[in-house]
Amino acid sequence: MSSDVIDIIISEAKSLHSKIVEWRRDFHMHPELKYEEFRTSEVVSEVLSSLGYDVFRLEPTGVVASLGSGSPVVGLRADMDALPIQEENDVPYKSRVPGKMHACGHDAHTAMLLGAAHIIKKLHDRNLIKGKTKLIFQPAEEGGLGARKVVESGAVNDVNAFFGIHVWASLPSGTIGIREGPLLASADAFQVIIKGRGGHAAQPNQAVDPIVIAADMINAYQKVVSREVNPLKPAVITVASIKAGTTFNVIPEEAEMLGTIRTFDEGVRDFIVSRLQELTEGIARSMRASARFQLVGDHIPPTANDEGLADFARELLKPIGRIVRPERTMGAEDFAFYTTKAPSLFILLGIRNEKKGIIYPHHHPKFDVDEDVLWMGAAIHAALAYGYTERYR
Ligand code: NI
Repeated sequence: MSSDVIDIIISEAKSLHSKIVEWRRDFHMHPELKYEEFRTSEVVSEVLSSLGYDVFRLEPTGVVASLGSGSPVVGLRADMDALPIQEENDVPYKSRVPGKMHACGHDAHTAMLLGAAHIIKKLHDRNLIKGKTKLIFQPAEEGGLGARKVVESGAVNDVNAFFGIHVWASLPSGTIGIREGPLLASADAFQVIIKGRGGHAAQPNQAVDPIVIAADMINAYQKVVSREVNPLKPAVITVASIKAGTTFNVIPEEAEMLGTIRTFDEGVRDFIVSRLQELTEGIARSMRASARFQLVGDHIPPTANDEGLADFARELLKPIGRIVRPERTMGAEDFAFYTTKAPSLFILLGIRNEKKGIIYPHHHPKFDVDEDVLWMGAAIHAALAYGYTERYR
């Protein structure tokens, strides 16, 4: 590994900084929701084609571009979608689309990977990257499982290692968060329907009250976490919605609950699902009602970072910024789908800057990115593309 090459990457990234800021602001002003990233993917494709990348368009809005040949194949991923949030920042680059906003930083991700595309092209031209680099601009990270679509398309079947960066609001600006093992949680959504017997609220003995039964179920669910799951293995069960009844003096027929399960371990997740099922049916039966527990929507696996890649990146990226070890979070990321295909590393890039008032969490209407770090994101991607082929070829 040559530190000269890392120096070249850093100076190239710094010289591209204002261009990356420009892209980021352009994407920020024109946010597009999941699977509607038509403008964004068009801009991305044009830049990549002009640089000489082999561009593959994944319907409707994904872009996978490759450069070089042979092995190893490094996959670098950015997500492109925005959120249905009305922006409350007063900045020149404020969203121009009412009700839509880049409130998770995916505008920055896209811009940083475009910056990296320039640097990587130069490295390939100088024969400093030996294998193939694949740039993945995926749609629909926010609840659309765009990553799974990319994986299922076969466009990344040959990738030996995946890397992704997320700008991170809880880390100080300019720090690089690398953590081995699980970083983000698995996510499942569930629905419970309890069928009781309606009646007068003054004569509960003649009814079967699904609301009281729901309350018992919620309490029992929490005991799965506190009494049945290994306390050294974090798990969350949240009932986030409960619907039953319409007025004060009628016991309803039915109650419906919606909730989520988060873990870092697929075994713990399977255990929780089966226990919630048993508790739901058992409690309902014991209280003269019936109930059905079912998972709804898709399962997102945990995002688990490869230990070897984490060690490798900690060493490699030192010249770019201060390396920190971030806290895990029970939030989920569809980057997880890449981690199930090949060894992967998801890096968090700190953007919190109190002096600039950049203190709001992801998905907040005042979320913003400290743009000073944008060159770093491009440098990290390029350094990984170079470093991986040096180390693992
Ligand atoms: Ni995000």
